[in-house]
Amino acid sequence: MSLIRETDYGTPVSKSEKNVTLTIDGQPVTVPEGTSIMRAAMQLGIQIPKLCATDSLTAFGSCRLCLIEIDGRNGTPASCTTPVAPDISVRTYTARLDGIRRGVMELYLSDHPLDCLTCAANGDCELQDMAGAISLRKVRYDNGGANHVFARNNGKPNAEWKPKDESNPYFTYDPSKCIVCNRCVRACEETQGAFALTIDGRGFDSRVSPGMSVGVNPLRGQNNVEGSCDMGSFPHEFPGYRHVTDDAVRHSFEEAWGAKLDNEPGLRIPNMFDAAVEGVFKGMYVQGEDILQSDPDTKHVSAGLGALECLVVQDLFLNETANYAHVFLPGASFLEKDGTFINAERRIQRVRRVMSPKNGYGDWEVTQLLANALGLTWAYSHPSEIMDEIARLTPAFKNVSYRMLEKVGSAQWPCNDASPDGMPIMHVNGFTRGKGKFVITEYLPTDERTGPRFPLLLTTGRILSQYNVGAQTRRTENSRWHEEDVLEIHPHDAEVRGLRDGDWVRVQSRAGETTLHAKITERVAPGVVYTTFHHPLTQANVVTTDNSDWATNCPEYKVTAVQVSPSNGPSEWQEQYRELAENSRRIAISAGAMK
Ligand code: SF4
Ligand code: FES
Repeated sequence: MSLIRETDYGTPVSKSEKNVTLTIDGQPVTVPEGTSIMRAAMQLGIQIPKLCATDSLTAFGSCRLCLIEIDGRNGTPASCTTPVAPDISVRTYTARLDGIRRGVMELYLSDHPLDCLTCAANGDCELQDMAGAISLRKVRYDNGGANHVFARNNGKPNAEWKPKDESNPYFTYDPSKCIVCNRCVRACEETQGAFALTIDGRGFDSRVSPGMSVGVNPLRGQNNVEGSCDMGSFPHEFPGYRHVTDDAVRHSFEEAWGAKLDNEPGLRIPNMFDAAVEGVFKGMYVQGEDILQSDPDTKHVSAGLGALECLVVQDLFLNETANYAHVFLPGASFLEKDGTFINAERRIQRVRRVMSPKNGYGDWEVTQLLANALGLTWAYSHPSEIMDEIARLTPAFKNVSYRMLEKVGSAQWPCNDASPDGMPIMHVNGFTRGKGKFVITEYLPTDERTGPRFPLLLTTGRILSQYNVGAQTRRTENSRWHEEDVLEIHPHDAEVRGLRDGDWVRVQSRAGETTLHAKITERVAPGVVYTTFHHPLTQANVVTTDNSDWATNCPEYKVTAVQVSPSNGPSEWQEQYRELAENSRRIAISAGAMK
């Protein structure tokens, strides 16, 4: 597979509407005000040598390779940080500039391993390209003095040398090859907003290091959770958070859809499992959620799923819930989606596919095909038509359309007559209902209690390298960072139970039991044990109970009374589940569905 290499203009585009005309190497060029001279030159096809600049990041001006001369001005400014000016005349290649660039490049190469022929980046290395571009044939300095290149110097250990860091499955950091261009640090800040890297030290001592602070982002748990809630995914609401008992709202949807709609709220997920076990809830269509693994009290979930007459699962991968499915429909990845995502600040953003869905259909098309197979006559031909319907039926989205989003880029609802292009901050001059309404919510302690049978408290959580139930990340190299869920237990609690680090342990609660390996650590307090739920064979949620809060039925994952004891290996349930999972996948493969 070859990658398409896009032209790098060196610095980001300027959005100014005012133009500036200048001359570069004798050629006139007109560009928006604020454009760098480097970018303007690139527009003429003149590539000024550079190492630290790239057009996805703000110019930094550290490598001093991109110098230029401007008639009538002193010095040799960096073209990446110097903006264009009207009528100036710029020269990018002169004998003086060639000499300075070669001198700079010689210094870089004198502290760099000259192993191009065996280096993995050979042929795809900007340092190599730039040395060629400025016709550098010979480096006058050797690296016999202080350098970052060799582990030993003159027979003695070299304190400046650091070994390669290959702990990350996606990239290798070789400090001896780093030219401290700062691009990784800037990308981490400007593109990712993560601030996870920094440059430590100055001059010759500069090194890329972990940052002191990691940026805090207000995020929803999953992508587009906000959009799903806005669109009425709660069982008691229509889009725009309007209750199903509101007759006027309900009638507007009945009229648009030509169907009678229930004025009673539907069931929440845990109630669906209860009703399925009772035999009064018959079918479920699950899109993009692995409820068998994510929901508490796995045995109850499995009993509910197993009792359904029809379970349809639509997902990117044959997930754990699919083990119980009668029909499995393939899903589309975000790269294959056309539509909108809404983030936590109510911002509606267009999402455009970069490739056609591999399965032949977008998710909305699969749902439409299913609806029509059930006898309906849906005829949307593009997601924009679905947005038009949302705008017709939902006041807060009244002015939203794909055309409007193309024009403004993104918009924060409400987008209505009062704020056609959206409203960044709501309730600036007051609430919609006078001074607003504040309600005291009484604290309700959990019913879960520790006692002689279950003396420890289990709390569950997630780690960064595995996303939620791991349906996607377990299939990637991320598993090298977290290949199994382990039970973290305090040394004191481990000692009184005769447990050693790495032992198999049984975790029992009122709901069920599972086994996993113990990790003895003071990260948890005495009396508390902790595990994650990223791996299906661990089945951490077999142990969690279906206790939930009265208002939202949100499960109580953080508090389960348990006992921990030595074990010889997987529990009976884990063995049964492994068999079920293997059988389901064998059927799928023989049916030619997917691996
Ligand atoms: S590791 Fe970072 S600073 Fe060093 S050369 Fe690579 S991108 Fe530049
Ligand atoms: S590219 Fe301009 S200073 Fe590095």
